[in-house]
Amino acid sequence: MTPTLIKNLSRHVGEEVEIRGWLFNKRSSGKIAFLIVRDGSGVVQGVLLKTNETAFAAAEMLTQESSLYLRGTVRAEPRATGGYEIDVTQVIPVSIAGEYPISLKEHGVEFLAERRHLWIRTPKQAAILRIRAEIEFALREFFYRNDFVLADAPIITPAACEGTTNLFEIDYHGDKGYLSQSGQLYNEATAAALGRIYCFGPTFRAEKSKTRRHLLEFWMIEAEAAFFDVDDNMRLQEDMVVYVIERVLERCRNELKLLERDISKLEAVKKPFPRISYTDAVALLNKAGEAFEWGDDFGAPHETIIGNHFDSPVFVHRYPTAIKAFYMKPDPEDEKVVLGADLLAPEGYGEIIGGGQRIDDLALLEQRLAEHQLPREAFEWYLDLRRYGSVPHSGFGLGIERTVAWICGLDHIRESIPFPRLLHKMYP
Ligand code: 4AD
Ligand code: MG
Repeated sequence: MTPTLIKNLSRHVGEEVEIRGWLFNKRSSGKIAFLIVRDGSGVVQGVLLKTNETAFAAAEMLTQESSLYLRGTVRAEPRATGGYEIDVTQVIPVSIAGEYPISLKEHGVEFLAERRHLWIRTPKQAAILRIRAEIEFALREFFYRNDFVLADAPIITPAACEGTTNLFEIDYHGDKGYLSQSGQLYNEATAAALGRIYCFGPTFRAEKSKTRRHLLEFWMIEAEAAFFDVDDNMRLQEDMVVYVIERVLERCRNELKLLERDISKLEAVKKPFPRISYTDAVALLNKAGEAFEWGDDFGAPHETIIGNHFDSPVFVHRYPTAIKAFYMKPDPEDEKVVLGADLLAPEGYGEIIGGGQRIDDLALLEQRLAEHQLPREAFEWYLDLRRYGSVPHSGFGLGIERTVAWICGLDHIRESIPFPRLLHKMYP
């Protein structure tokens, strides 16, 4: 018999199917047993009568998380979570599980985090990971449809991109190397070769932050486009974010329901996103009673206040030059600020995208490298991009985990990735 995925049961009503999965839970009332089975694609309840003695005896052996083949007939059941149930004909155990450490009662997060390799089996965690996969797929689809070429950036790099304080250093057979904080500098090179590109991969930050928004290893999708200015860049980002939200709403209904996500909040995300300058954002904070001085960098509470002001994500642009990376292009109308823009998510999720227009002038870039005390030799190739056919160009990076946390409505970023890397925590 060919196996059927639980998510596809709607195509098999009235047919006999085989589900290959694990026992999530079981209940029995003497004459009838209910087997709740998960297969990774969903969860379904099997109904088994005691009159089917062989199957009933097999079911009695099954402990939580035992693996099994469940055969039976699919029946529409409007009251069931997925909309279907199975009238069981056969139960074939594959492996009987020992006493499972994660019981169905509530556990503390510390306890679950230590058992992340098992925790991901619970329906909510699995739903989050399915949504994550959909977000990643939608992002790739968006770029493909918009003529952006995938150009992978290296993970091992000879120099810093986002500042030297949070680099993981490695021994590159006698030379110093670093784990990449961002593919951006390489993106600028591939954009000059291919026009519009993106890269997608893991990035690393050694910062000692212990917040609900920081990971030491996270995934970033980064786009770079030749001849894009800061406004083109923001339009691209808003198209992308709206595209992703629409795909998730369309393809992940069940998962969002399982997470009890208030989808009206996601449906409220509309183009164009509001755009405010850093200076106006400071005024907004002060008006909200927050003591904040022009020139300081926003912390999580400030981003929350700004983000909560709007239903859609909001762009904050033209930050003070002093608090941004060396490559940011100054605003020709006010050199104290740069043409950078961050995108802050609503509902207190804070910055999900950092980006902006890059310096395209050789002399200014050389000056910035010196001001930031970056090793000139390591950046010669990057300077070449300004020597040979320099063009105005812009790009950005979207953090996958923060985006997943926002879309799923999670309290903490640690649930947005299969195996989070947090401060002083890398097991399992
Ligand atoms: O703002 P960031 O540092 O920007 C860059 O790295 C640029 N070079 C990207 C570019 O222009 N190509 O990081 C971009 C995004 C943030 O907005 C956030 O979503 C995410 O990456 N991010 C983190 N996510 C989880 N944990 C951390 N420690 C993160 N640091 C940044
Ligand atoms: Mg940033």
